[in-house]
Amino acid sequence: MIERTGLHNDIAEVLITEEELRDKVRELGKLLTKEYKGKDPIFVCVLKGSVHFFSDLVREFDDYCEIDFLSCSSYGDGTVNSGVVKIIKDLDKNIINRHVIIVEDIMDSGVTLNYLTNLLAARNPASLKIITLLDKPERRRCAIQPDYCGFIVEDKFVVGYGLDYAQLYRNLPYVGVVNTDLIK
Ligand code: IMP
Ligand code: MG
Repeated sequence: MIERTGLHNDIAEVLITEEELRDKVRELGKLLTKEYKGKDPIFVCVLKGSVHFFSDLVREFDDYCEIDFLSCSSYGDGTVNSGVVKIIKDLDKNIINRHVIIVEDIMDSGVTLNYLTNLLAARNPASLKIITLLDKPERRRCAIQPDYCGFIVEDKFVVGYGLDYAQLYRNLPYVGVVNTDLIK
């Protein structure tokens, strides 16, 4: 539960501004365009957290591509990974012999992406890579690293630009930290 003092007022600190996000996504889109030109990649959005990053990133990808969506849960409403990953919605597309890029909001313990990469790798894609907007490498519990990363963040629970606390704050256009005094 959070004591609400106003959407923006609940945020103690802005870590990444809207402009910094825009510049970084543009840079990553250019890089992916260079690496995947002519390969018709499939971008996989891991719902719900990567929704804004995904939609901004694919619009910076300047060649043919397809998109698909996957939904899994591991967190409930808390801030600590339960270690259990459950697929709520699987991909619609067959990814055999396709170049697949998993688009994540944040890598924390790595449990989610470790599970997802094993699941998708078993379907024999031509290649499988991970792009994450944010990475908290200090907290990793699995031997897995992103292939592309936007920003390294310190070990704080962050919200905004898709990331939530108890399903709130996904609509903030920046990434920030909730005032922990408000969490009851
Ligand atoms: P992991 O399995 O521990 O790497 O966690 C991955 C998922 O946990 C992410 O895709 C997020 O949905 C969520 N998560 C991890 N850290 C944060 C955070 O600081 N804020 C919001 N969600 C987070
Ligand atoms: Mg996520």
